[in-house]
Amino acid sequence: MMRAMRILVLNGPNLASLGRREPEIYGTMTLDEIVEAARAHALERGSLLEAFQSNHEGALIDRLEQLDFDAVICNFGALSHTSYALHDALRTAGRPAVEVHISDVAAREPWRRVSVTAPATRHQVVGRGWRGYLEAIDWLLEAGVP
Ligand code: DQA
Repeated sequence: MMRAMRILVLNGPNLASLGRREPEIYGTMTLDEIVEAARAHALERGSLLEAFQSNHEGALIDRLEQLDFDAVICNFGALSHTSYALHDALRTAGRPAVEVHISDVAAREPWRRVSVTAPATRHQVVGRGWRGYLEAIDWLLEAGVP
């Protein structure tokens, strides 16, 4: 029997404030609630999910260096628009990754339109609210990665 896929969900700066952070843009679910919903969804589909949030670029890179996962779902927040270091860390990890943005970054400030980390991911889910994390899980399982 195949071993369960271990999915690492990484969330970057300001995402720990979900629930009270600009709810008209990001909704009212807290990060813990989103992670629990994603964990339940992954389990239903026979996968294991672990989540890590940090406001610090280096801590996110350190987590990626642990290599104790088969695939990554990442929402690096504003670091998505700036961090070549996180781009390189995803490439270095060498595991399939899906980038999630809760809000529709294409319809907001122009600087949000560019993601420098997206080219290191296989797929992006944008503007689907918290359910975007579930869609990212589905994409990984349907794409049959790794
Ligand atoms: C975000 C979009 C980013 O532009 C922003 O800086 C965030 C959240 C999103 O999930 O929509 O922190 O990544």
